[in-house]
Amino acid sequence: MSEPEQVVERTLVLLKPDAVARGLTGEVLRRVEAKGYRIVALVQRSADRELLAAHYAEHVGKPFYEPLVEFMLSGPLVAVVLEGQRVVEGFRSLAGATDPTTAAPGTVRGDLGRDWGAKVIQNLVHGSDSTESAAREIGTWFPEL
Ligand code: RTP
Ligand code: MG
Repeated sequence: MSEPEQVVERTLVLLKPDAVARGLTGEVLRRVEAKGYRIVALVQRSADRELLAAHYAEHVGKPFYEPLVEFMLSGPLVAVVLEGQRVVEGFRSLAGATDPTTAAPGTVRGDLGRDWGAKVIQNLVHGSDSTESAAREIGTWFPEL
């Protein structure tokens, strides 16, 4: 009898407009690929308010929501779907803590991010925070998947 087929986990990553503007998309994707995760889908595009309201549904109405939307509309971003065992927590670990000033060195945010005095934390990347969020966010950005 064969083993049940393992369902490989997926996560939604955004290389935010600051990462694209600073030419860091290659560096971030290099780290992802070096870690061993598979890139399932990737697109560079601009966001719009409707898409961001769906993506950031849990943050709508918070004080940082409007500055966050302005930041996410400030230029093109890159949306990526990654696949691998435990990739949700694995990418969060690669990304580091939300605040890039204090994010651990060795992480994307700790090595490449800083406080620029903006109205909202600019921290280069987004990664889904659970498998449930990942399924919802992948549906938001890549409905064809
Ligand atoms: P992300 O969703 O982007 O992966 O980051 P996260 O889970 O670490 O942070 P979350 O709490 O979900 O917040 C989403 C994004 O909103 C911005 N933010 N700014 N007080 C602030 O200025 C503030 N708080 C959150 C950040 O860009 C954060 O990544
Ligand atoms: Mg989050």
